[in-house]
Amino acid sequence: MHWYVIIARMTTSLLPDFRLDGKVALVTGASSGIGSRLAEGFAAAGATVVLAARREDRLQELAERIRARGSRAATVALDVTDPAAIATAFERISTSEGVVDVLVNNAGIAEPALFLKTSARSRDATMATNFTAAWDVSAEAARRLIAAGRPGSIINITSVLGIGVGVGYSAYASSKAALAQLTRSMAIEFVRHRIRVNALAPGWFVTEMNEEYFGTSAGQDYLKKIPPGRAGQLDELLGPALLLASDAGSYVNGVILPVDGAHHVALV
Ligand SMILES: NC(=O)c1ccc[n+]([C@@H]2O[C@H](COP(=O)([O-])OP(=O)(O)OC[C@H]3O[C@@H](n4cnc5c(N)ncnc54)[C@H](OP(=O)(O)O)[C@@H]3O)[C@@H](O)[C@H]2O)c1
Repeated sequence: MHWYVIIARMTTSLLPDFRLDGKVALVTGASSGIGSRLAEGFAAAGATVVLAARREDRLQELAERIRARGSRAATVALDVTDPAAIATAFERISTSEGVVDVLVNNAGIAEPALFLKTSARSRDATMATNFTAAWDVSAEAARRLIAAGRPGSIINITSVLGIGVGVGYSAYASSKAALAQLTRSMAIEFVRHRIRVNALAPGWFVTEMNEEYFGTSAGQDYLKKIPPGRAGQLDELLGPALLLASDAGSYVNGVILPVDGAHHVALV
């Protein structure tokens, strides 16, 4: 064997393992935006992905795209704010795919409004989707992992607005800050079960949630003013997500990882 092949093999064995072969990864809110892209990436990394959201037609289309690339994908219709539906979904996944090893709590809504203009309905819906649902889905996933004696990884999608705040985002920012604290709380309680719990805190990524605003000149001007000077590309979330999901991040736990081009550290 040539010396350069030996060195290449030694170098390769030093690299951490970012792959997810043999793992089942459930992504909530996989019907669009960030969830959709993370699901595609996890499938490319070897996971069997389970796509969950309310719009089943979107999930089916994505599952077909993933399968066409030779990866494994299943779908489950799920309104994450419905506890009975969560239990039913996990039963179905358990029968068809087995235990969920990696959970991404990505489903979320944003209804920006000034504090005094935010209705009780909007506040409660935001908390129910962005916080309480992640609590309930995590509890279901963790109970099943613990019962099976398997390690796992839970990734919550918080936000740069769970770290700092912005005008018009009192309900949203509060829900994401609560989710960050839940992330840390679950991390210290589940560590003895080998279940890691971390969060990604994205900055701005253009998705259906905000594309209307970022399509305006005001939205474009705003992006020029933030430290990266642009929105993130969805693919830029994939590496950080794989770190948290895979064995490459086996000692990373209780972390809220901003992926925002330094937006969260800037006083602008
Ligand atoms: N885009 C950004 O700049 C940004 C920044 C920071 C954090 N985030 C967070 O990233 C996550 C994904 O957002 P996105 O930007 O990708 O927006 P998006 O394209 O609007 O996606 C939101 C997803 O959440 C799902 N969802 C909403 N309510 C749900 C419910 N009750 N049950 C199940 N699924 C539900 C939607 O699916 P259905 O409607 O089909 O159910 C959809 O797939 C959210 O948690 C958001 O807060 C986004």
